[in-house]
Amino acid sequence: MTQPHPQTDPTWWRDAVIYQVYPRSFADGNGDGTGDLAGLRARLPYLHDLGVDAIWVTPWYQSPLADGGYDVADYRAIDPAFGTLGEAEQVIAEALALGIRTIIDIVPNHVSEQHAWFRAALAAGPGSPERARFWFHPGKGEHGDVMPTHWVSDFQGTTWTRTANPDGTPGEWYLHLFAPQQPDLNWSHPDVRAEFEDVLRFWFDRGVAGIRIDSAALLVKDGDLPEVPEQPGPGEHPHVDRDEIHDVYRAWRAVADSYEGTRVLVGEVWLQDKARFAQYLRPDEMHTAFNFDFMARPWDAKQLRESVDVTLAAHGPVGAPATWVLSNHDVTRPVTRYGREDSSFAFTAKRFGTPTDLALGRRRARAAALLTAALPGSLYVYQGDELGLPEVEDLPRELLQDPMHFRSGGVDPGRDGCRVPLPWSGTTAPFGFSTRPAEGGAPAPTWLPQPADWAGLTVEAQESDPTSTLRLYRDVLALRRAERALGDGPLTWVETTGDVLAFARGDVTCVVNLGTDPVPLPAHTDVLLTSDPLDAGLLPRDTAAWLRT
Ligand code: GLC
Repeated sequence: MTQPHPQTDPTWWRDAVIYQVYPRSFADGNGDGTGDLAGLRARLPYLHDLGVDAIWVTPWYQSPLADGGYDVADYRAIDPAFGTLGEAEQVIAEALALGIRTIIDIVPNHVSEQHAWFRAALAAGPGSPERARFWFHPGKGEHGDVMPTHWVSDFQGTTWTRTANPDGTPGEWYLHLFAPQQPDLNWSHPDVRAEFEDVLRFWFDRGVAGIRIDSAALLVKDGDLPEVPEQPGPGEHPHVDRDEIHDVYRAWRAVADSYEGTRVLVGEVWLQDKARFAQYLRPDEMHTAFNFDFMARPWDAKQLRESVDVTLAAHGPVGAPATWVLSNHDVTRPVTRYGREDSSFAFTAKRFGTPTDLALGRRRARAAALLTAALPGSLYVYQGDELGLPEVEDLPRELLQDPMHFRSGGVDPGRDGCRVPLPWSGTTAPFGFSTRPAEGGAPAPTWLPQPADWAGLTVEAQESDPTSTLRLYRDVLALRRAERALGDGPLTWVETTGDVLAFARGDVTCVVNLGTDPVPLPAHTDVLLTSDPLDAGLLPRDTAAWLRT
């Protein structure tokens, strides 16, 4: 089948399969134990064979890595640990030559404490124009030692840190919705708006096909700094989903639309209120946003059907396609999550030592791959999910890096367990993740250790095993591309009994058995694909099938 040329298909994003690359853990091209752009370039053919339309690369910029790169010191420079700007340009060009577009991550809510603007703001002192780009504020109380608000951080704990004046005396406080190393920008300031529009142009000029917008609903704050009301109504929260935020994205959309080809804006928008969520997807704002509702639901037919319905109902009126996301670099891997008694996801519920049945989780994660790939819209695959990697839950505590872990007082295991370097080949760590260093000798240990029992999960091992999760993903993505009815378009539920989900996309029906007993398949002419073998013609528990009808 001939595909439209990637550069010229204006609707590519409506049904694209987008693979999330976490560069630090994808592939290491210089043997230092940290993934990099040389490693990514070398593995682009793997992504082509997997059948993805685009990659989303999480932050590759210069950063002290206080939050895995979501603390950006320079938005126009690549971190030396990852490579150079020239190599980033090579990634973009070489991927495109394989028909793969590149989406990069822009972090507009905050910068690194090492960013030139923040350093200048600290040095310039209270009342300076440099400080006006951030949220510096005197403390309350006689000595200014009471923080300006009691807003709670998304990383737990407080959101204000006190500074020292240039003369060493205690000074103003600054706002950080995340870690103290991530000071929030003041989006009411024209410099901030102009700077990010310029950063977008910098990367669009280098050929990126889209921008993933980090923490997209948080940028604008109520300048009066009120406390958070007990039950904020729509638009009433002082730092989440303020009405004024939409002006920012309208301006970004105008920048994106001024470029040739379709340059897309993808929002990381965590909002319960579906109607408010959909406002970000109006025709002159973002193209799509991550659908976290579906990801957070438990493995339950009723719950997942409800999520599909509310998702499609919310997107319909604004004409935007839905996105389907099983995981990312922030959440527990599906193989682990679906193997638990409570298979829903919530940041606040993560704990060490939660009992998990990985075999069950893997069956369900395979079925979920068929389910999400058949739903209307675009699909995100987080690196390693195509290998069925589990969350790594026994990382040595002293190697954990995630501020979410530390700021919870060590109660939350944090997000390192889904960020472990990928296993590519061989039978012992680093499982082909690192090449040998140019100066000879063995590669350095990987930045997070890989479990010793990952030999069976390497790309190499799975390529030669027709029952592997990798082979399943390749089949799923190839068939999704070949079947015109999949991707964007309408969905019709097929009524079933019991814990079964079934829906038709044209002449393809997807059926998933979330119950415990095998069930008969709906009427069909052919079985196109199953996530695990049928059992005497019946669909076993935790199995999905694509049927020709
Ligand atoms: C987003 C990112 C997450 C990061 C946070 C702060 O949620 O996905 O990894 O920690 O923003 O930038």
